[in-house]
Amino acid sequence: MKHTQNTISGKITWRSPSNIALVKYWGKKPIQIPANPSLSITLSKAFTEMSMEFEPVKEEPGLPALEFLFEGRQQEKFEKKIAGFLNSLYQEYPILKEYRFKISSSNTFPHSTGIASSASSMSALGLCLADFLSRTGRMEPDTPAFWQEASGLSRLASGSACRSVFGGFVIWGHHPQLAATSDKYAIPVPFEVNPAFREMKDAILVVSSKEKEVSSRAGHSLMEGHPYAEKRFETALNNLMELSRALIAGDFDKFVHVTESEALNLHALMMTSNPSYILIEPNTINIVNRIRRFRKETSIPACFTLDAGPNVHLLYPAADEIKVRKWISEELLAFCEQGRWIDDEIGKGPKRIN
Ligand code: PMV
Repeated sequence: MKHTQNTISGKITWRSPSNIALVKYWGKKPIQIPANPSLSITLSKAFTEMSMEFEPVKEEPGLPALEFLFEGRQQEKFEKKIAGFLNSLYQEYPILKEYRFKISSSNTFPHSTGIASSASSMSALGLCLADFLSRTGRMEPDTPAFWQEASGLSRLASGSACRSVFGGFVIWGHHPQLAATSDKYAIPVPFEVNPAFREMKDAILVVSSKEKEVSSRAGHSLMEGHPYAEKRFETALNNLMELSRALIAGDFDKFVHVTESEALNLHALMMTSNPSYILIEPNTINIVNRIRRFRKETSIPACFTLDAGPNVHLLYPAADEIKVRKWISEELLAFCEQGRWIDDEIGKGPKRIN
């Protein structure tokens, strides 16, 4: 890192994973404040690696001098989005105006799989920015204030990304019964998770890699005036407590019930919004039915959750990996687009790369 007078130049690199919500965030208030708290698992293998080079702007401070490369190539669409995001941060972080940034990003998971990359990429961006702010004197690195800022910045870039800043089970959004939870940033669950849940696998079964027709942003806004909105927000509060109790007690039956119910609740909200829309596909249902049958026949507590799309996240304890993998190959891959799936698991969270 080079220092010139009071300014510095350097390069920051972070690897940040994706996450999947068990209790869903669906509906928001300005600015990126969730209508209800959510609880997620941070993944491990599906991650973004992002480098941010920075140097002082030599001329007059002005619009952000930003270059953005995705997998080695200039990406105008993302560059505009990130420039707009940096712009929105100027008031709170005027130092950003004094620097020129070159950001290079790549994902471990193929973009044509329909797996949302905003959680991993926007959390990587939040971490790079927090790191930059700590190097320029705003806060100490790796302190609680640092992680809070990184999560808050990620939230502003893309809501659910703020949960990826922490490993394991993570909560974002204020819950009146859970101290330290906040609408502005995520925290690791404020309780001890039963060892039975510490090694969970997530097989992401790719039913379709097509880009979804209705964005999450549009979906969130359809919750305004939704006939079931109030009941939904109340249900989410209750489900978050139920799931927390299940995680503490090691209660798989409760875990399965809440997780599957949340996934179906999310899609029911889409189907009953105005205009109504459907993101699941026939093979989503085929997989869901088979997961339920497998659980009944084997007593292995495998269950599903769904993101805002047709792909299925099959969650199961790592101890059952051999049996579950065999069943995935023999029965479930027939419902996946070109037999595609991603073998992921609960992870420890982002990592700074030197
Ligand atoms: O963070 P967004 O705006 O992409 O919304 C995410 C919404 C869901 O993925 C459907 C649920 C969640 O909590 O991650």
